Amino acid sequence: MPIDTMSTINDTYNDYQKGFGTEDSPNWRELAGKDARRIPATLLEENSPNLGSAKIPPGRYTSRDYHREEVEKVWKRTWQVVCREDEIPNPGDHFVYDVAGMSFLIVRTEDNEFKGYWNVCLHRGRKLVDKSGCGAKGFRCAYHAWSWDLKGNLAYYPGKWDFPDVEAEKFGLRETAIDTWGGFIFINPDANAKPLANHMGSMPKHFESWPLEKRHTLWHVQKRINANWKVGIEAFLEAYHVVQTHPQALSSVAEHGTQYDVWDEGEAAFSRLITPTAVPSDHSKEGTPLGAIADVWALLNGLRMDEANSLPEDIYDRATLAEWRRHSLGEMTKADYSDVPDAMMLDSIQYWLFPNFCPWFGEGLPLIYQFRPDADDPDTCFMDVWMLVRSPDEGPAPVAPEVIRLGPDDKFEPHIGAMGLIFDQDDFNMPQVQEGLKTWPGDPDGVTLARYQEMRVRFLHQILTRVMSTP
Ligand code: FES
Ligand SMILES: [Fe+2]
Repeated sequence: MPIDTMSTINDTYNDYQKGFGTEDSPNWRELAGKDARRIPATLLEENSPNLGSAKIPPGRYTSRDYHREEVEKVWKRTWQVVCREDEIPNPGDHFVYDVAGMSFLIVRTEDNEFKGYWNVCLHRGRKLVDKSGCGAKGFRCAYHAWSWDLKGNLAYYPGKWDFPDVEAEKFGLRETAIDTWGGFIFINPDANAKPLANHMGSMPKHFESWPLEKRHTLWHVQKRINANWKVGIEAFLEAYHVVQTHPQALSSVAEHGTQYDVWDEGEAAFSRLITPTAVPSDHSKEGTPLGAIADVWALLNGLRMDEANSLPEDIYDRATLAEWRRHSLGEMTKADYSDVPDAMMLDSIQYWLFPNFCPWFGEGLPLIYQFRPDADDPDTCFMDVWMLVRSPDEGPAPVAPEVIRLGPDDKFEPHIGAMGLIFDQDDFNMPQVQEGLKTWPGDPDGVTLARYQEMRVRFLHQILTRVMSTP
């Protein structure tokens, strides 16, 4: 099958099986029905059309030609996250963002505005700035000293007499489009791109009840991975892999009761999963409802699983666990959680925005992921992960720490603790998936996806097909 031939989206809502729950391992909608607090209407929406069963051609992950076209049609034209605003808090602070062999420079100016530039010296093309930094007054190229101010104006070049063809006003750094949402700085290399708001559609409405701009960076890890960026992100778009990849989580994560939703709004495309947490999976041999509570409680306290038996007596179900979490998190972050429903205190809720941005939602897993091609190469990508915590209701938020940069063989766990084990388990598969896809025998003619549990992977490909076929 040609790489870009896929079935089109079928809008009709078909009645088909969408996961299951049991008495001890309910699905998410059953749990949500028991929540004592009001769950936001957007969280209760359900939008899971039958997207069909087309195979995904392996060449989408491995072909150089497909990758090159993706660079032109996606990476040079799409909105993508660079960093958090709190990672460049002062004028002159700047962040170097590399994607698919291109480099961009994002700057906070003296007027506290953000600017995005192609990170290249317009003299003879040296990369202008090698790495992120703080408090710059401007940027001087290390080769012949051509210099630009923070607003991108050419400020100085030696031997002016020798460049009769250079008019300073035409030699400003080439700008990208730039915008912010939820405390994130986004760029689009296409300076004439339509606004970020068009690209996000109604997704910001979903975050009104849990504003990301009221959070700050606890840590930010960037890891290079030897796999295509889609192999990377797809490892996080479904909970189906929990059974084999994260078996230790089955005692407290009912992955089969996950709700999956997709929203295709034309210009905007996003999706979501909601996984019941603090309930045992039906796939867990020894899991019990109380054991699930104890395991989540231990995890949240940074304890080992075998220390879960010290669970206090007044925590015995999801409601009491959520109440304990409201209280302990409230003390830790100096913020008020009294209105937050149990679902948003405990469950794993994650959104995806085309092409590569995954903000989680709620306190269950307050993470952000992004995947992007590293070099001009379909076989490598960068994963960015941020842990965001709610900022104090009053007073300034703490300053963001430096980015932790990891190579393909480095592990997450030594840097971020117990949660790192989960990433390391996911990461263990990715290079092997890439190798396997390169070995694909050709029959069947592509990768097979579950109709419901892997619908967000299929949705990504359907949107990608559309974007790639736009001239
Ligand atoms: S290449 Fe930058 S100053 Fe010459
Ligand atoms: Fe995983």
